[in-house]
Amino acid sequence: MEDDPRADEIRRSLLDAYDAGRRDLPWRGESDPYRIWVSEVMLQQTRVETVIPYYRMWLERFPTLESLAEAQEEEVLVAWQGMGYYSRARRLLGAARIVREEHGGDLPTSAEELRRLPGVGEYTAGAVASMAFGAVVPAVDGNVRRVLARLFDLPDPGGAELRDLAGALVDPVRPGDFNQALMELGAMVCLPRAPGCASCPLGNLCLARARDTVEERPVRKARPPLPEIEIVVVAAVRGPDSRFLLQKRPARGLLAGMWEFPGTEVEAGLTARDAVLRLAAGLGLSVVGEPAELEAVTQVFSHLKARYRPFVALVEGVGEGGVGRWLRAEELSSVPLPVAQGKIAEAAREAVQNLARRL
Ligand code: ADE
Repeated sequence: MEDDPRADEIRRSLLDAYDAGRRDLPWRGESDPYRIWVSEVMLQQTRVETVIPYYRMWLERFPTLESLAEAQEEEVLVAWQGMGYYSRARRLLGAARIVREEHGGDLPTSAEELRRLPGVGEYTAGAVASMAFGAVVPAVDGNVRRVLARLFDLPDPGGAELRDLAGALVDPVRPGDFNQALMELGAMVCLPRAPGCASCPLGNLCLARARDTVEERPVRKARPPLPEIEIVVVAAVRGPDSRFLLQKRPARGLLAGMWEFPGTEVEAGLTARDAVLRLAAGLGLSVVGEPAELEAVTQVFSHLKARYRPFVALVEGVGEGGVGRWLRAEELSSVPLPVAQGKIAEAAREAVQNLARRL
């Protein structure tokens, strides 16, 4: 590839198109490595339009790596709330503390060293090293994979192959811009469906286009459907100030460290209502009257689909059993809640207000 006469032309055409038409995104032109790192971790699994407001709020709340390293995990999770894949936020915090303690507060400058930080994979290490430090290294994300698969007409390129191709192409003078230009092309022109080949700056260099295989590159693999679980949830409410019981999830696993209403999978042979009553009893709560079922909420995770069936239950006579925290509706925004739990909280709050009006 180094000797491939196309490499120079690819670089030039791509950078020219990037200079002429790139989107004005808040991290573009940024030179602070911390800011670039934050943006790239956010962009790992979240769309650009969603990331923009989170990125701005994050930098107001944690303007420097030092300020992040000093933060509590819970405030970091609250700032990330709504973006999903919360382990990214926990790892960002862990990495900031390592950088403060082991690197004197400055992010390491090579992709190899960056890679050793929690939450920094091959892609993020390449992106940060090239954009923040000018390292001549590739950064292959899903968009870049698609662009390269088409440019070189490869049905199903693997990680090592892509790394080699991108590594040989990356512009030695403007590696960060080059990597972003490839991403930009994948996001704006070289789309999975109905790509804009007619206006593509690499159109006359693209092998898949020449061979009319663009739509099949890379080949799409059918994914098996996600396993589904159903969880009954109890929004237990008590007292004249209508406090809800919330619990913190374990420090490891799905939604680690986030807060939620107590919930359980329904055992075979049990109705949802009975499962709720059993759950409440297990928490030492005595339910007054009938629990009221609210609308179900579904949430898709990377490896499963959860369907939550929330019930509001008035409870009384509960001691402080250490099972969680009793929070007023206004206080729910002070703990990190997953999106589905936020929806349940909203519906439960409304249901309790309606109930109070009728009493
Ligand atoms: N996706 C990942 N990194 C990106 C960046 N720097 N700009 C736009 N989209 C991206």
